[in-house]
Amino acid sequence: MLKGKHIILGISGGIAAYKSVSLLRLFVKAGADVQVVITPSGKEFITPVTLSALSGRPVISEFFTANTGSWNSHVDLGLWADAMVIAPATASTIAKMANGVADNMLITTYLSAKSPVFVAPAMDLDMFAHPSTRRNIDLLRSYGNHIIDSPAGELASHLVGKGRMEEPERIFEVVDAFFDKEQDLKGRKVMITAGPTYEKIDPVRFIGNYSSGKMGYAIAEECASRGADVVLISGPVSIKCNDSRVRVIGVESATEMNEAAQREFADSRCAIMCAAVADYAPAQVAAAKIKREKQDVPTIVLKKNPDIAAGLGAVKSDSQILVGFALETDNATANAVEKIERKNLDFIVLNTVTANSGFQVDNNQISIIDADGKKNDYSLKPKREVAKDIVDHLVEKIKK
Ligand code: C5P
Repeated sequence: MLKGKHIILGISGGIAAYKSVSLLRLFVKAGADVQVVITPSGKEFITPVTLSALSGRPVISEFFTANTGSWNSHVDLGLWADAMVIAPATASTIAKMANGVADNMLITTYLSAKSPVFVAPAMDLDMFAHPSTRRNIDLLRSYGNHIIDSPAGELASHLVGKGRMEEPERIFEVVDAFFDKEQDLKGRKVMITAGPTYEKIDPVRFIGNYSSGKMGYAIAEECASRGADVVLISGPVSIKCNDSRVRVIGVESATEMNEAAQREFADSRCAIMCAAVADYAPAQVAAAKIKREKQDVPTIVLKKNPDIAAGLGAVKSDSQILVGFALETDNATANAVEKIERKNLDFIVLNTVTANSGFQVDNNQISIIDADGKKNDYSLKPKREVAKDIVDHLVEKIKK
């Protein structure tokens, strides 16, 4: 899909710059026309000679070419590009991009780029975790840039954690998939619920659960990349949506999630109910913090929360598709089938909870069970690939 595409590969000064050579090779092999723009410190890590030999174009680093005095136009470059990929993006480059500090050719080109921009951060784990880096990455995301998140692993410093640059093969895959995605959900509104709900006990305490929201967020990003108009109703999570095309509605309790879901479902073509909604909430929320000294062990009386999926199932029209999730520890298939009927679902995604699959972790092993009882089993995969399987199944249903 990258054949003939114009790609600007931005390289900043980090040890991961050596991996940019492999990334450049992958782009060139795929038939892309690649222009490398490197920061002055990037050249300390990798030579322009290697990069220009592989790209077949002189590497740009300075505002002016020294011997001729000719100006390198960042404006023309920004218009030329079909995509800009900044890998590695160091803490400093990310900070400059976030704040418009246009003191080198890479940043001026970034500020002029009209194309989608992909950013692969690379730095040491403490720099990556620093609040200023977190804030700058959030800012880039809010501008609509695609952040290719850093995986955890061993860093050049031998410390282990998040901060290393994603592998070139994966960065290539993300960029390739961006252009390759069939827009099979174009013009369709998809509503997704994700994450846990928090049910207030008093102003400082709640009943919650361990749901990370990762599965729902991955589904939302997959739907957006396939052209859907996505609304993601999310309980409190620590992750961020990596696709600025997704409209995120943040909620806290099941009641709030229910209100948003009922409102958004009305004109949705599909709803995917991924959230781990609390079944019960405290019947009374204490107005002030419950104090230990004042009383014996308190009793918290619970009331039933609305079943959001069942509520939507009850009002669903023939043209709407409703998808549920089930997390079962025993009689999994029988319970899932019972849920399809009770909630009037079109299909249900059955989750397996093991050490490597389910809550909090990055992988999931699922089965999809249709309303007619047909079951498809899938292997253990990263959640973004599981999201693709689920959305493929959804698209099949829409086509029918
Ligand atoms: O009944 P159970 O909680 O096992 O059903 C799981 C499915 O129903 C999930 O799709 C979940 O998002 C949805 N659900 C809901 N509202 C609830 C409970 C579950 O939408 N109160």
